Amino acid sequence: MTDILLLNGPNLNLLGSRETDIYGNSSLKAINNACQEQVESHKFSFQSFQSNSETELIDAIQQAKSDKVRLIVINPAAYTHTSVAMRDALLAVEIPFIEVHLSNPHSREPFRHHSYFSDIALAVIAGFGIDSYRYAIDAAINRLKQN
Ligand code: DQA
Repeated sequence: MTDILLLNGPNLNLLGSRETDIYGNSSLKAINNACQEQVESHKFSFQSFQSNSETELIDAIQQAKSDKVRLIVINPAAYTHTSVAMRDALLAVEIPFIEVHLSNPHSREPFRHHSYFSDIALAVIAGFGIDSYRYAIDAAINRLKQN
């Protein structure tokens, strides 16, 4: 059983070297470690997974059901704007999720303004750089404490 699953989509494995003016200097490993520490300090369990493959991300969402994941925090990255299949997977497993973005997609190119996830998400946190993850995990922890 996992309480909180953090999922990261394509190209986020390159954080720290990818468009650092937009995404900052922290690596994904550092973000995952910080989130893990934050979750475990509240005695909840944590798993993280990143993939560049839509198929693998869908498989991870489906697996989350068997693993009895209670809440998903997800940065779908570019799949935010394209993936009906990941949206359907999240609807299928019926696990509440928080959508996270480092940047604020609404202040960027028009093709980033639409998300296939926002209308079915518990909440959306965007634009705070790596702090977006910290705030999302904090909200996830509070939510689990209420249930
Ligand atoms: C992103 C925003 C997306 O538009 C983009 O494709 C990403 C990262 C973010 O975290 O700001 O890869 O999800």
